[in-house]
Amino acid sequence: MRSKVTVVGAGFVGSTLGQRVAERDYADVVLMDVVPDMPQGKALDILEAGPVLGYDSLVIGTNGYDETANSDIVVVTSGIARKPGMSRDDLIRTNQGIVTQVVQEVAKHSPNAILICVTNPLDAMVQLAYKVSGFPKQRVLGMAGVLDTARFRTFIAQELNVSVRDVQAFVLGGHGDTMVPLARLSTVAGVPLPELIPAERLQQIVERTANGGAEIVNLLKQGSAYYAPSASVLQMIDSILLDKKMIMPCSVYLEGEYGINGLFVGVPAKLGAKGVEEVIQLKLTEDERAALQKSADAVRELIGVMGI
Ligand code: APR
Repeated sequence: MRSKVTVVGAGFVGSTLGQRVAERDYADVVLMDVVPDMPQGKALDILEAGPVLGYDSLVIGTNGYDETANSDIVVVTSGIARKPGMSRDDLIRTNQGIVTQVVQEVAKHSPNAILICVTNPLDAMVQLAYKVSGFPKQRVLGMAGVLDTARFRTFIAQELNVSVRDVQAFVLGGHGDTMVPLARLSTVAGVPLPELIPAERLQQIVERTANGGAEIVNLLKQGSAYYAPSASVLQMIDSILLDKKMIMPCSVYLEGEYGINGLFVGVPAKLGAKGVEEVIQLKLTEDERAALQKSADAVRELIGVMGI
């Protein structure tokens, strides 16, 4: 039987992800959204590309949850973006309402699914999804680190004029200003980054990475990034559905790892058929540990706003 991937929120990230999953040809796709007819239209459009591109994935659009039943993976992208004049706390509370309602339905209809959250503020929304779903920690995670790392790798490859494939990089911490790009453990064809890029220039690249989302928002004028975010979720889905056991930075529930307890924060994790199969513990320097702790504190503050 084919696997089933549901994407809740058929907006820019959700529909692009639906397209990417369909093109992989290993799973059927359900696009769910509250806007009448829109997910049905997008799903049909993606389905009709199948004969041209040669995939047989079934793609369905819906405004309800019946069609999502028994999904193997559910990706939550539903939410609103911050609008001018809206405070960060307003945004959290609005998306809290949306994610709560969505995850309740998802848990009811797909009790064995692995949940991947994308809605921002990311780490806080994953924590909420974990609580509302009641799922074990292995089956709830958030996409941020793969995207942040992809941005970091892009800028490093540009700087050194090398293939992105030769650049390995790690970004830890929460998704936001407090993320921790780990230059020390990043390499180009095995050579540590600090040996290749002067410290001052490297710092500029690290800062550009941390502001990577805002850079796109400023260029688009409305909306936020979706090509790289959807590609990043796809890599996580690949590793889970194909049981590849790839190690990638994800927002996962920590219980003592890195000295952090009871909180979702971005760290390297092994993803396989069971979801989060292992949290990889890197040896951090004092500075890195402090930066990660600061990032965790920022996540904790957002959780305080939600009152969960
Ligand atoms: N149930 C289902 N879908 C919903 C609900 C709900 N309760 N509420 C909102 N949606 C849908 C909207 O109708 C919209 O189609 O979620 C979709 C969000 O899509 P976009 O506004 O296009 O946002 P997008 O760019 O895809 O980003 C989604 O990912 O990167 C993050 O910060 C970003 O939180 C945002 C999310």
